[in-house]
Formats: sequence, C-alpha cells, structure tokens
Amino acid sequence: MEKFIVSGEVQLCGNVRVGGAKNATLPIMAATLLCSGVSILHDVPYLRDIQAMQDILTLLGAKISRQGRTMLIDTTNVSKAEIPEPLMREMRASVFLMGPLLGRFRKVRVSYPGGCAIGPRPINLHIKALEKIGAKVDESFGYIVAEAAELTGGEINFDFPSVGATENAMMAAVLAKGTTMIRNAAREPEIADLELFLNKMGAKICGAGTDTIRIDGVQLLVPAEHNVMSDRIEAGTFLIAGAMTYGDIVVENIVPEYLFSVTDKLQEIGAQITTGRDYIRIKASEFRGVDIKTLPYPGFPTDLQAPMLSLVAIAKGTSIITETIFENRFKHVDELTRMGAKIKVESRTAIIRGVSKLTGAIVSAPDLRAGSALVIAALAAEGTSEIEQVYHIDRGYEAIEKKLQTLGAQIRRV
Ligand code: UD1
Repeated sequence: MEKFIVSGEVQLCGNVRVGGAKNATLPIMAATLLCSGVSILHDVPYLRDIQAMQDILTLLGAKISRQGRTMLIDTTNVSKAEIPEPLMREMRASVFLMGPLLGRFRKVRVSYPGGCAIGPRPINLHIKALEKIGAKVDESFGYIVAEAAELTGGEINFDFPSVGATENAMMAAVLAKGTTMIRNAAREPEIADLELFLNKMGAKICGAGTDTIRIDGVQLLVPAEHNVMSDRIEAGTFLIAGAMTYGDIVVENIVPEYLFSVTDKLQEIGAQITTGRDYIRIKASEFRGVDIKTLPYPGFPTDLQAPMLSLVAIAKGTSIITETIFENRFKHVDELTRMGAKIKVESRTAIIRGVSKLTGAIVSAPDLRAGSALVIAALAAEGTSEIEQVYHIDRGYEAIEKKLQTLGAQIRRV
C-alpha cells in the first residue's frame, strides 16, 4: 500500500494551479445520462472518485474515453438503470445517479449506499424530492427502486440544504412535465455549475446558487460541451498548507469569491491574503487561535474543517471548531495528537490548545479530507512523518504530492 514520506519544516513558496472540481464533475458526469449522444467535459481531474463514476457509467452502457483532462462520454447505448451494490459502496456520490436515470428511463434501481467513514449519510431528502415530482419509491432488500409512468413538476422544500439531494432533484425534474420549485436548496457553486451544464443540454433552470431553484421541464435534452469549474476545496487546502508552513504561495485558477469564508478565517488567524481575478496569494508568519463553525455554503466548508484544524493546532491560544454538517468528522484528531497536537473533542466540538510545533510521526489517513489534514500537519512538523492509506487522499486530490513538490515540499510517495 502506498504512503507519503514527508520531511517537515519546509516553507512552501511559488505558484500552484488548481484543477477541475471533483464535486462539480461527478454530478455533471451523471447528468450526461439524461440524453443520448456524446458530451464533452474539459478539465476533468484524475481522481479515484472520478474513476469510480466512470466505472458505473460504463457498466450502464456508456462509452468513455479521455484525452488528457478532456473526457468524452457517449451515452447512446445506455440501456440499464440499475446499479449493483459493490459500485454503490465504492462511492456514495453515486446516489445522485438516481435523478438522471429516473428522468431518462422512468425507472431506476440502486443498492442502498449505506453509511460511510464520516458518519451516517441518510438519503431521505433525495427520496422525498423524487416523490414530490411523482416517483413511487420503494426501499426493500437493500435496494431502492424509484419509478414513475410520468414525472410532473412539483414543490420541493428541503428541511436541510443537502447538496446531493438538490442536484438529484434538479436532474430528475429537467425532463418532468411542468415546473418544479426547489426551496431551501443548497447554494454551493458546484450546483450552479451543474445548472450551466444542464442548460447547455437544453434544460430551463434558473436560480442555482441561491436557495430557490426553478426548473421548467423540457421534452428532450441534447449532449453538451463544458469546462468544469475549478476545485475550491483543493484551493483551500493549498492555502492552508501555505499558511501552515509560514510560506508565500499563489493559488491559481480559482474564483476568490467562492473561498471568502475561508480567506476570512485565514486573515483572522493572522495570514496576509491578496486576491486577483483568478488567484489568491497567502503569506503567513504567525497565527492566533480562532473559532470556526462549519455550515452549508456560503459558510465555512466542512470539507476544509480538517485541514484548518491542523493549522490552528500550531496557533497561539485556544481555538474551537464546531462541525455541524457531519457527525463523525474528527477522525484526524487522534492522528494529530500523535504528532503533538493538544485537542479535546466533545460531541461535535473540538477544543484545540495551540502548541508551538508539531512533531513527525507515523499516521494513517482515516478519510479523504482528514488525510489532507495530516499531509498539511506533516509539512510543518519537525522531523519526518509517514502517512499511510493515501488512497483516501487520491479520491479527491490529483497527485497532491507532485503539486506540493512544485512549491518546495519534501514529500514523496512510496
Ligand atoms: C456533498 C459533497 C461533500 C461535502 C458535502 C457538504 C459531493 C460529491 N460531495 O456531499 O464533499 O462534504 O456536500 O458540503 O458534492 N443528509 C440527510 N438526508 C439526505 C441527504 C443528506 O440527512 O437525504 C444530511 C447528511 O447526512 C449530512 C448533511 O445532510 O449530515 C449534508 O449532506 P449533503 O449536503 O447531502 O452532502 P453530500 O451531497 O453527500
């Protein structure tokens, strides 16, 4: 099994380009199923989760080829609308294949995705949304079957702004008869990117990126070509890595506005931030503790909570981090403790007493974002660290070690 060996205490410096967003690419790949023909996606990152989605689409009958970061998806021969259990387990995000498959074939059967490392992830909101536009949903023997002779526009009010359920609802409703309104929709920029792609396919959607989305159903969609938006979580991870090593780095190919909640906290911590049209520069020399609460967008992203916790572990004073999105997202705490961090977790809150330095240790990535938090901690720690189970990190960061090497980091994969 591959691991990273990191020699810490090297200041990062230089420029790094962020790639296409995993969380935008996955629903857009799913959306290509809504019509027959060849859709073309640009800036698709090489990630394990993207490969998993590619495997599922291929199983359903799609033909996928890649030319560098351009992906061609031919959905002409897609005839199946059934996803077996091993593939559903490989990646939870596959749950939002339900929407497009239901939209195109009026029936879909998928294995129940089950829990995952960061806590139970129910799909009640996905199911409620599909029911609101006329689907009959049956859950039995570990499978979910959704079917509808005809999908009709409906009113969907989410109790919580779930990202995946909002995307699923949009994709199911584009081919429904009449108008669908989604209220208390998630407002993540990736949802606006999905709207852009669906509208290129011929859909009539407006409002994505706000809490109210209107979808006027159309009869037919056509293949489309799209540049996937860049990855704000990858960008945030590099910014935190730059700060953590008291470095001076420029993160390129991003929309600074999408990272306001993060740059705001980094400034509060004591880092200097400069932004341009499509880049953010960060310089840091010392930090003070801050309080952070994860929230749906535009609040502080749960996906950057773990990397930020590594950073405040070496800030002066006490920090309090409250995780409100997922139940079990402090798995990096035990590993950071092995590196000398002083952290106490009570329910969904972590109390961090800053130490002057972390020390290298052998640690193991428990999940994707917790894994990136350990890489960041190791970059700043005294001595050498080994990070095991890097396959978790490869789910969402393309060749993270190579990008960090260009910034001067001493990290290698063995
Ligand atoms: C997406 C992102 C993930 C990010 C998360 C929150 C993708 C592929 N993944 O995940 O990186 O961490 O948004 O920003 O885009 N919930 C329910 N019932 C449901 C659906 C969700 O209770 O039917 C709960 C979840 O358990 C969780 C919360 O809502 O506690 C947020 O989940 P959601 O916004 O759906 O996240 P995902 O779409 O799974």
